[in-house]
Amino acid sequence: MSDATVPIDRRGLLGLSAAAVIAAATPVRALARSPFLWGAATAGHQIEGNNVNADIWLLEQLKPTLFVEPSGDACDSLNRWREDVALVRALGLNCYRFSVEWPRIEPAEGQFSQAYLDHYRRMIDHCRAQGLAPIVTLNHFTTPRWFAARGGWEAADAPELFARYCDRVARAMAAGMSHAVTFNEPNLALGGPWSRNPPDAKARAAMAALTRAAAKASGSDRFSLLNAGDPAPMIPGVLRAHQLGRAAIKAVRGNLPVGLSLAISDDVAAVPDSALAAKRRAVYEPFFDAARDDEFIGVQTYERTYMGRERAIAPPATVPRRADGKPWEPEAIGGSIRYAHQATGKPILITENGIETDDDTERARFIPAAVAAVDAARRDGVPVIGYIHWSLLDNFEWFGGYRPKFGLVAVDRTTFKRTPKPSARVLARLARGGSAR
Ligand code: BGC
Repeated sequence: MSDATVPIDRRGLLGLSAAAVIAAATPVRALARSPFLWGAATAGHQIEGNNVNADIWLLEQLKPTLFVEPSGDACDSLNRWREDVALVRALGLNCYRFSVEWPRIEPAEGQFSQAYLDHYRRMIDHCRAQGLAPIVTLNHFTTPRWFAARGGWEAADAPELFARYCDRVARAMAAGMSHAVTFNEPNLALGGPWSRNPPDAKARAAMAALTRAAAKASGSDRFSLLNAGDPAPMIPGVLRAHQLGRAAIKAVRGNLPVGLSLAISDDVAAVPDSALAAKRRAVYEPFFDAARDDEFIGVQTYERTYMGRERAIAPPATVPRRADGKPWEPEAIGGSIRYAHQATGKPILITENGIETDDDTERARFIPAAVAAVDAARRDGVPVIGYIHWSLLDNFEWFGGYRPKFGLVAVDRTTFKRTPKPSARVLARLARGGSAR
């Protein structure tokens, strides 16, 4: 199945006031004063390998599946994480964003793995020892298989279960984190209906068949995960889980900056009576509300979206194009961070921005143009605390398997040898200079 019809793949789917800043005065001001964060991001399931207790691992293994290939060994980062940290350091970046995997830490309900808590704590300690700020995501799409099989985010006690997991993680390693991100793009699936090609009946039926098969394989009557089904009944649980998870982390370490990362395209009105405001109300604003006590908003941007009357429409013919005909709009990140700040009053941490391309010269051109747009927003007063590129490594791109390339660093699929691409040096140069200028 092409990723154009699969909701979990980005390319397939794809206010608050200034008083909020004053309310949260101390940590927010302190954040705005910290050195600018330059980093690269990864996510556990996409790089570690053999995440066998994850909901998505099961979906990959089913026959038939919608995944072009299973994640398998991924980049073997479960064993090679020190190499990954060394790469980030060698590039002269000052932070590394990665996720801890709930399916490893709580492989069976209520059973926590001290060994994996120790593992991730070692990663955090090692980042610190190497002079890197560890930015830790607690949920990057994957949940434990048992969690999905008991109803996922639709189960009444899901927020409490997530908060219990956050408490365990915080007690084991919050001391070393520089920032905690509860959820990665919990709003991604909400964007589907607003996209140019909303998932059609056939795509929805295929996804429903896959989750039915997963339920059967798990001896359950349901198997529920975000990005694989109707998100509407899941979102209230996710919003509450963010707040309870945040509270659990704060109870352990009150001064740790906590936020969530949202998929925010640079939405622009393409017609006078566009659906821009309606999309914002549906896709972003519930999360901005849930984040009102957070110290920052994590923004992840991959595109500009031209909003028509009901949903996105084709970009105008005047938009510059890449060799393959896709729009070339690296400055989209400037628009999304301006919006996220204006809507919330919060400091912005760019937790992901990047480009899918086999041609690394495109990435090498993309990065300075994107950073220039960030610089311009900063000059206009948007408090941006960091730019974290997606991704450090070519990795498992969900439904698309290993074909799509987002990495600053290539990974040999057999030897796992890492080879930095020229674009990595471009980011390194910008990080050394402090801006695109
Ligand atoms: C996700 C990543 C993904 C990237 C590129 C984001 O939606 O957080 O996991 O690999 O975009 O598609």
